[in-house]
Amino acid sequence: MSRIAYVNGQYLPHREASVHVEDRGYQFADGVYEVVTIVNGKMIDEEGHLDRLWRSLGELRMDAPMDREPMKFVMREVIRQNGIYNGIIYLQVTRGVAPRDHPFPKDVRPALVMTAKRLSMKKAAKTAEQGIAVITVPDIRWTRRDIKSVSLLPNVLAKQEAKDKDAYEAFQVDDDGMVTEGSSTNAWIVDQDGKIITRPLSNDILAGITRASLIAELEKRGLEIEFRSFSVDELHNAREVFLTSSTSYVLPVVKVDDHVIGNGQPGSISLDLREIYQEFMLAAE
Ligand SMILES: Cc1ncc(COP(=O)(O)O)c(C=O)c1O
Repeated sequence: MSRIAYVNGQYLPHREASVHVEDRGYQFADGVYEVVTIVNGKMIDEEGHLDRLWRSLGELRMDAPMDREPMKFVMREVIRQNGIYNGIIYLQVTRGVAPRDHPFPKDVRPALVMTAKRLSMKKAAKTAEQGIAVITVPDIRWTRRDIKSVSLLPNVLAKQEAKDKDAYEAFQVDDDGMVTEGSSTNAWIVDQDGKIITRPLSNDILAGITRASLIAELEKRGLEIEFRSFSVDELHNAREVFLTSSTSYVLPVVKVDDHVIGNGQPGSISLDLREIYQEFMLAAE
């Protein structure tokens, strides 16, 4: 089945899908995006992702390209036309096309693009079984990391550094030596007493939808979470480390920089949490 992209009202073969050279996303990174996971044909946390998309748009004083219900219809259509059973859908909204000038253009329609692709559940399960390596890098991003903007250059550099060092992810570290989050994931530790710790929401990190759903599932089960920043030192000496994201779900970390975490195998709490999150996904309506 050939891939189809949605571009401003049209469903087009991937190779023909393009935007204008003066799209403000292209010239200014003046846009926002979402990535929604599809498991067994169902979108996971569709409402949460749309809530965050609308929030990001609001924070940047950008209009929505269409109402929520038609957007949901287009999302389903993109998934259907691409025949996705397990994978992701990517949505991007930019401020639109206008002659290049920094201030907001007048009377311009926001541009909406959607693409979808398959992901292998088997590969994801194998990665989780083995656990992953993470490095730490300085967080060089702007101070509005709560907005899911397409301006991802620091994240790109961080992920490339991880790749160069055979790691899966880079955890970013603020000027106080505290971990903010991964380049495309939220960071968690389990301390030596078994406490599950993650950084509280603020402008310093993206409010991960996976993070929120995992928290809700843990709270339902009466499991406690400590919301506080943790240092690189705590990260290196944690009993367990894991990360969350829409494409990684809950992924155990077995090495951080040169420090082996636990016995170098995925920790039991991380694996339990992954299981809890998988159950949550499989129960999606
Ligand atoms: C910087 C950053 N933090 C965290 C996340 C995880 O968010 P979510 O669980 O909504 O995928 C992402 C996802 O892309 C991200 O880019």
